Amino acid sequence: MHSITYPFGRLELGEDLGLTINGTKLKGEPRLLRDLKPVLRNPEFVTDQNAGKILYMMYRSVVADPAHREAFRIHSVRFDLTVMDYCLLDKEPNKTLGHVHPQAIPGLSYPELYQVLLGRAIYLLQRAQDRSGRVADFLVIEAGPGEAVLIPPNYGHVTVNVGGSPLVMANLVSTRFSSDYGPYKELHGASYYLIEGGSLEPNPNYPDLPEPVWSDEKYPVSKDIYTDFICCPKSYSFLNDPTMIGARFCKGQ
Ligand SMILES: [Fe+2]
Repeated sequence: MHSITYPFGRLELGEDLGLTINGTKLKGEPRLLRDLKPVLRNPEFVTDQNAGKILYMMYRSVVADPAHREAFRIHSVRFDLTVMDYCLLDKEPNKTLGHVHPQAIPGLSYPELYQVLLGRAIYLLQRAQDRSGRVADFLVIEAGPGEAVLIPPNYGHVTVNVGGSPLVMANLVSTRFSSDYGPYKELHGASYYLIEGGSLEPNPNYPDLPEPVWSDEKYPVSKDIYTDFICCPKSYSFLNDPTMIGARFCKGQ
C-alpha cells in the first residue's frame, strides 16, 4: 500500500492498481495488454498467456467530496485519475493507448490538463498535419510529482510511465466529447516509440516524420489541479473553449 497526500485528498494505491480516495474505494476501468496490441512497436509481445495483464486503471469523474460534483457538472469538466503499472512491453515502457480529441470549435480540438501525482511520466504529443497521417510536430514532455502538462488543442497524446514504479496521474478534461483512439490504432502507435532508456524510435507507418522536440513547458499549479479547479473553475474555461488558451499553444488554426 502506497499513500500519497495532496490538498484535494489522500490517495492509497492498493493491489492490482486499486485506488482509494479519503478511504473510499474507487471503481475503475482496466486497460489490458490485449487492448494495446494494435499500438505496440512489437505486437507479437502479446501472447495468450499475458494478454489479460492489467496495464493501467482509469478512474473517471472522481470527486474528493460529493459537494464538489455540482461544480464539475455546471462547468462540463471531469477529474480523472489513472494508475499505471511499471513494466516493459517488449522494449517500450508501459504506455497509454493514445488518442485524439474532436474539435471544440472549427480548427481547434479540446485541450486537456494532466498532473503527475506519483512517479514520472513522459507525454508524447503529436499534431497531425492532415488526414494522411503526416505529423506536423512531435513534442516530448517529461513530468515528475506535482508537475502539470497541458495538452494543447490539436495534439494527440500518449503517456509513458518512465519512473520505474507505479505512476499515478490526474487530469481535468471537458465532459463534452469522447476520445478517438482510431488514428493511433490505424498507425500502430504514436509517430515515435519511446524505448526503455529514453531513446525515440521512428514508427515506420508514418510518412515524413518531423524531428522530436523536447520541451520542459509545465502548466502552473497552485495546490493541485483539483483544488485549483474547485477554487476557481472559470480559470479552466479553456477546457471547453480553446480560444482562451494563449496563441503559443494553439497551432494549426
Ligand atoms: Fe485526452
